[in-house]
Amino acid sequence: MRIDIITALPDIVEGPLQQSILRRAAERRLVDIRVHDLRAYATDKHRQIDDYPFGGGAGMVLKPEPLFACVEAIQDEVDGKVDEVIYLTPDGQTLDQPLANRLSMKDHLVLIAGHYKGIDQRVRDALVTMEVSIGDYVLSGGELPALVLVDAVVRLIPDVLGDASSALTDSFQDGLLDAPVYTRPAEFRGLRVPEVLLSGDHQRIDAWRDEQRIRKTKERRPDLLACEKD
Ligand code: ADE
Repeated sequence: MRIDIITALPDIVEGPLQQSILRRAAERRLVDIRVHDLRAYATDKHRQIDDYPFGGGAGMVLKPEPLFACVEAIQDEVDGKVDEVIYLTPDGQTLDQPLANRLSMKDHLVLIAGHYKGIDQRVRDALVTMEVSIGDYVLSGGELPALVLVDAVVRLIPDVLGDASSALTDSFQDGLLDAPVYTRPAEFRGLRVPEVLLSGDHQRIDAWRDEQRIRKTKERRPDLLACEKD
């Protein structure tokens, strides 16, 4: 999979891409993530990427020209075979596990991280194919949401996670929260690990985990049990 991230603040996104699972996925060529500095696509001599909103109001708006130039340069490079151009915005559809699953099956995503007050509506109308929010709160830019989306999607690409089953048992993957986990020591400050986990009886262990997952989901997220699976 290829992912292009367009941002006015590339430093925010570069660091996390160099760590842990995302870095290893890139090293193993399971994903090719490219970060584009929007300013490099500015067309005027001051390299201006934002401007005041027509009609007044607070905050600056990202200008259309650099965004069009950047998205079109990427599209030209791959003969227009980009699957989705995603704008990260609080008014988009909320990212959830089913959406992450669907996006993980695509070959090429372009992510636009807006800043300031937003991006010129013409970019959204003409270039953007999907608008995604990471939750009902407002961040100061789309960089952290873009990283959240990248992390949620890349870990689902086959072979990215070491243990092939570990993404499947994540919270939400089958509509249930995860069971508690423990590691050594079996007793710490008098607190013991549930006996069943030490039993070696995998049937009992699976049954215990299922029970814990259902109990926790009922307690914390009854809405998940009520809704249909995607
Ligand atoms: N940009 C600012 N806040 C955001 C959010 N909650 N989700 C996606 N993009 C955003």
